[in-house]
Amino acid sequence: MSALTCNMVGHSAFGDASVLSVMPLTLSAPAAGQIRMTVKAVSINPIDYKRREGKLKLIEGPQVMPLGICHDAAGVVESVGEGVTEFKVGDRVATRKRGVGTYAEATLTGADVSAKIPDSVSFAHAAALPLAGMTALQALRAADLKAGETVFISGGAGGVGHYAVQLAKHYFKAGKVVATCSGSKAALCKSLGADEVVDYTAVPHGTQYAGRGKFDVVMDTVGDSAAMCVLGKPHRNVVSVVNLDLPMAPNATFVVRAFLMAMGAPVHFAAWRAGTTYQFVRLTPNAADLAFLLGLLDNKTIVSTLDTTFHGLAACQDAFNKAEHGRPAGKVVIEI
Ligand SMILES: NC(=O)c1ccc[n+]([C@@H]2O[C@H](COP(=O)([O-])OP(=O)(O)OC[C@H]3O[C@@H](n4cnc5c(N)ncnc54)[C@H](OP(=O)(O)O)[C@@H]3O)[C@@H](O)[C@H]2O)c1
Repeated sequence: MSALTCNMVGHSAFGDASVLSVMPLTLSAPAAGQIRMTVKAVSINPIDYKRREGKLKLIEGPQVMPLGICHDAAGVVESVGEGVTEFKVGDRVATRKRGVGTYAEATLTGADVSAKIPDSVSFAHAAALPLAGMTALQALRAADLKAGETVFISGGAGGVGHYAVQLAKHYFKAGKVVATCSGSKAALCKSLGADEVVDYTAVPHGTQYAGRGKFDVVMDTVGDSAAMCVLGKPHRNVVSVVNLDLPMAPNATFVVRAFLMAMGAPVHFAAWRAGTTYQFVRLTPNAADLAFLLGLLDNKTIVSTLDTTFHGLAACQDAFNKAEHGRPAGKVVIEI
């Protein structure tokens, strides 16, 4: 197996979407446990533009430029490394790569964070799923949501939120799902499984949670956990995938850990006052959860909602501007 020369989207400086450009990429042969895949579709997640802006420098330390971008991809296995038995050349696969660089014509990724795409699922719909879908699944699991219970989800039309609403209703079989979103996305949220939708833009901040009763599970995808703790039943679970908190960087320096603990203090205090249990959930990418979710796409338990589909590497700036500033409903995907 030899090196592969192709093109990727990357950046040589931190900044807004204008720092992105198409640049050459040389990929080595896949190492043990890796696959090399031809990328057919990629999706954008907020971590991609936070990292491009340099917002993760404190947590991740100095970076070697140029950097690739994006973690999610769907495509076709082009070669496999030693020890990989679950995939063969030609398989359709989706992945949530650990490092950056899926927005490219080809990428290397771990077999342990990849799964086969069922025939009924398109590359675009599969590419939308890995990071956001696994985060939604793992957060609701961590919150111990049970059949018949009530759940309140903020940001129910976002990338993570739209999978969370569907999983809560159709997989965990929640009795009642209430979600926040801006008014124009209420119909989408309801079609995905929300029993009630709260337009957070129609009322002053904080009042969207008042008088709504108590929920078995509260899931925050927008960074509003301290205010949302009032919604939690005593001794039940509030989970956040957003708030700055220690589990974001468990191996960081003492100073960074102290900063994260200080940032997390208000929500821990709010949870204590409300008598709820609070935890920050950080995605753990893995093949089993990804395969499970692709199965739910296959049997139509959930759908990937695609707001906009762009085409090609050259669309990188437009695609990122849409994802960051275009208030998409669901996901922004690029077909390569
Ligand atoms: N912990 C982890 O491992 C993990 C994993 C994945 C994502 N995340 C984080 O989770 C967050 C959400 O990710 P995402 O992919 O879902 O982002 P996204 O696709 O941009 O969705 C965010 C949603 O939040 C809504 N929103 C914004 N402000 C709101 C508010 N005050 N109240 C209610 N809804 C509000 C937006 O709706 P409108 O456009 O209608 O306002 C949008 O639909 C990001 O910060 C991301 O970095 C963390």
